Amino acid sequence: FTAQLDASEISKGTYPYYMLKEIDEQPAVMRRIVDAYLPADGSVSVDPALVQALDQADRLYIVAAGTSYHAGLVGARLFEEVAGLPAEAYLASEFGYHMPLLSQHPFFLLLSQSGETADSREVLVKVKKMGYPVLTMTNTAGSTLSREADYTMLLHAGPEIAVASTKAYTAQIGVQAVLAKALGMYRQQPAANDFALRHQLSIAAAGMQTLVDEKDQIKNLVGQYMPDQHDAFYIGRGADYPLSLEAALKLKEVSYVHTEGFAAGELKHGTIALISEDTPVLAFITDDATAAHTRSNLQETEARGAHTLSIVSEHLAEPTDNIVLPDVDPRLSALVGIIPAQLIAYYTALGKGLDVDKPRNLAKSVTVE
Ligand code: G6P
Repeated sequence: FTAQLDASEISKGTYPYYMLKEIDEQPAVMRRIVDAYLPADGSVSVDPALVQALDQADRLYIVAAGTSYHAGLVGARLFEEVAGLPAEAYLASEFGYHMPLLSQHPFFLLLSQSGETADSREVLVKVKKMGYPVLTMTNTAGSTLSREADYTMLLHAGPEIAVASTKAYTAQIGVQAVLAKALGMYRQQPAANDFALRHQLSIAAAGMQTLVDEKDQIKNLVGQYMPDQHDAFYIGRGADYPLSLEAALKLKEVSYVHTEGFAAGELKHGTIALISEDTPVLAFITDDATAAHTRSNLQETEARGAHTLSIVSEHLAEPTDNIVLPDVDPRLSALVGIIPAQLIAYYTALGKGLDVDKPRNLAKSVTVE
């Protein structure tokens, strides 16, 4: 297999680092996903055999590593809410050797930007041997995981070169939403019929564009919050919790600031002991049901000296909030929420003079278990 790559896709162009280029490309990636999967007539263009096979399943096991696992956590909620299919995300490195008790009719979704991650391949080989259907969602046509699965859906993110994954994460959320919508429509779920995904992804793309256009604001905030910090925390509830995990991974992997993502309500059960003078605590607030609780959790950390930063959906924003996220469908909030976090990671690493695209000790694709 020979990948056909457009030279402009693998050149940095005028960008200092691939990571920044790839952050900026995300609105265009969303539009590519719309073009590939969501025709204007409201239908969803996904292999009907895949949708029928998934309809036979009683549970979806999403298996992945790293950033792809975090995208899987977001996807699991989409499958449950839009298609009514119970779904859960698992770490490939754990699942391969410590499998949970499987349901009667499991279906496996392997998420992998590269399609080459050894931990994920190990799971694929095992569950294929057990006779279960497998779909790979990958950015790499012809990759090992794609060749060995029963079905493949492509992410259409274009080549991702920076080691820290950005556009593959948002593409994985977009493509999982596509499949959840296709399955939900096939199953005549009201939530799927009401989910105007083509329109909602376009709104999300526009919101992402606004945020990347305002990156100087983030650069300034990084100057105030991040210099010389050893520790930082991202917190959020509901959909903002998996988003916090990915935001924390981004910051720690490129800037080497020790960062944890926490369920906002859990911080007080131990980890708040680590908050001291000027520790940055960054909160995502996009969920109507828990916005007030997360705000009070953030205030608790401020009372203990934390330097707090709020990243809040427009309809929930107050004048003192630091970053306002354009409103999108709540099921897609991670698509806009992650952009400031990716930029915070980028500018923090840049400010420390680090090689943003090639963080120490990391590889783009990990082919050992
Ligand atoms: C490596 C990369 C991560 C990536 C993970 C999973 O650790 O550094 O950025 O999320 O592998 O990779 P995959 O290609 O399977 O998505």
